[in-house]
Amino acid sequence: MIKLSPSILAADPLRMGSALQLVKKARADELHFDVMDAHFVPNLSFGPALLAAMKQKMPGLVYDVHLMLSDPSKYVEMFAEAGASIITIHQEAKRFAPCLKKIRKLGVQVGASLKPGTPAETLLPVLDQLDRVLLMTVEPGFGGQKLMPEVLGKARELRMMGFAGDIEADGGIGLGNMQLLADSGINVLVMGTAFFKAADPAAVAAAVHAL
Ligand code: DX5
Ligand code: ZN
Repeated sequence: MIKLSPSILAADPLRMGSALQLVKKARADELHFDVMDAHFVPNLSFGPALLAAMKQKMPGLVYDVHLMLSDPSKYVEMFAEAGASIITIHQEAKRFAPCLKKIRKLGVQVGASLKPGTPAETLLPVLDQLDRVLLMTVEPGFGGQKLMPEVLGKARELRMMGFAGDIEADGGIGLGNMQLLADSGINVLVMGTAFFKAADPAAVAAAVHAL
C-alpha cells in the first residue's frame, strides 16, 4: 500500500490542533514535520516544542520529521525526545554518516534525504543503515512548488542498488501526478498543499490508498 504523509507546513499555523484531527480523521499514515534552519534552506519553520505539543495531543500518529538543517547532529536528540518516529537528515548536511548512527542509537527510524541534484549512488556507503530514503522532488525550502519528474528515476536506481526500505518523495505531489510516483517505486507520498488545501482531505487520502 502507498502511504500518505501530509506536511503540516501547508496547514493553517493558527489551527495546528485541527490539522492533527484532520490527519487522523483522514486516516493518513504519517505526519510530515518540516524543520528548516534558514541556512541549509532559505526559510524557517518549526522546532521541537511544537512537535512535543503535537505528540502529547496525539501520541498515536507516526511523526515523520524531515530535518533541513546544515548540522543536524546537534538537534537529533531534541527531536527524538520530542516524539519523532522517524528522523530524516540530508546527505548534503555536515557529519551525515555519523549522524545516521546517532539517530539509530536514539531508537527512532533512520532516513536520508537527497536534494534534486544529488545522485542516488551517494547513499551507497550507508544504504544498509537506512529505514527510508526521502527524495526531494523540489528544491527544499518552500511548499507549493512544481514537482521535478527527472528525480523519479532515483527510486528505480535505489531498488537496483538493493534498497528494500521505504522510498518517500516530497514536493509538488498531488492527485494529478501521484500515479507517476507510485509507478516509479515510491511508497510514501508527502503532500502539503494537495492535502491541507483540499476541499476534502479524506478523499485525497483514500485516493492515495487506492493506488
Ligand atoms: C519542502 C518541504 C515539503 C513541503 C511540500 O521543502 O520539505 O514537505 O511541505 O509541500 P507541497 O506538497 O505543497 O509541495
Ligand atoms: Zn519535507
